Formats: sequence, structure tokens, C-alpha cells
Amino acid sequence: MKYELPKLNYTFNALEPSFDALTMEIHYGKHHQAYINKLNEALKDYPVEQNKSLEELLVSLDSVPEKIRLAVKNNGGGHFNHSFFWRVLAPTSGQVKGELARAINKKYGDFNSFKELFTQAAATFFGSGWVWLVVNNNELEIISLPNQDCPISQNQQPILAIDLWEHAYYLKYQNRRAEYIEAWWRVINWDEAEKNYKNI
Ligand SMILES: [Fe+2]
Repeated sequence: MKYELPKLNYTFNALEPSFDALTMEIHYGKHHQAYINKLNEALKDYPVEQNKSLEELLVSLDSVPEKIRLAVKNNGGGHFNHSFFWRVLAPTSGQVKGELARAINKKYGDFNSFKELFTQAAATFFGSGWVWLVVNNNELEIISLPNQDCPISQNQQPILAIDLWEHAYYLKYQNRRAEYIEAWWRVINWDEAEKNYKNI
């Protein structure tokens, strides 16, 4: 069974004007697809690894044969991270609520303080990577990870994420990463984020 692109729950233009249709189309159809292709290629001669789930591979990278470990880390991570990212986006963002809202208020004081810290982490991140809201040791935490490194590989459970690779925003925002981050806040799927929190 080869890995495939997950279905999107919205059309490419559904997140406009925050995320433009062309960026979505290329990000999903070219960049995400490329990670999947390279993951399938890496696993091609490794039936034991083919029988593991993507999560199993990423949680236990040490048990993946050394020859394909980096390819699985980068491309399996790329597949996992993007699949996660599409799910926590939505055309109408709404507001954080429920258990996740309570946890954010408890940890950060209020939502705006959390938003400020997360935005700062994303704005100051150097290079290509992601900023995540995760649960680490039963606590919410904002973490920055380079490349396609994945929180589950370090035993952290993802709640929310922003892709900070230039391919995520360059067509529309060029060097204006701050505008992209602000736009991302408008297309967060808070229902899905809360589901992630509750399912831990
Ligand atoms: Fe990306």
C-alpha cells in the first residue's frame, strides 16, 4: 500500500484571501506530493517498514534501517506534517473554545498572550521549518522544529501548526512572513485543534 495525498476538506480557493488558490494548489499538489513520492521510493525495498503506519515509523525512527532513516524522517515527516496542516485549516476560522480554550488560558493567561508568543516564535524562526502547539508531558508548549522534523518523533502530541517553509507563502506574501502568519490566524480550524487536544 503506497502513501497517497489525503483528501482536502475544502477547495484550493476556499481559504482566500488568507491563503491564495495557486499557493494551495502547488503546496498540496507539488510539495506535499513530492514528500509522498520520495517516502514511497525510500520504502520500496523495505517490506517491514511498509507494514508500519506512518506514525509508527516517525515515533521510532531509530528502528528504521539506517540506510533509509533520513529519507523517512524528512519525507515521512513532510507527509505527516502537511496532512496535519491541511486538517487544522478551515475557510471559516471561528474561535478557540472548549477544553483547548481553557488549557490555553490556564497556561498562557489569556488567548492574546498565547497568540503573541506563538506569533513571535513563528516570526523569529530562522530557515525552513514549523512552529507547533503541542502537548509535552501533559502541558501545552509552543515549539519550533527545523525542516520536516515531527513532534511525534520526540513524544510530543501536535495540536496546531504553521508551515514556515517559503513554499507555504512566497507566491502571495514574498518576504512578508508576518503578513502570512497574521493570515494563518484567520484560517485555523479550531474544532479540529480541540479534537487533537481531547484525543491525546
Ligand atoms: Fe509545506
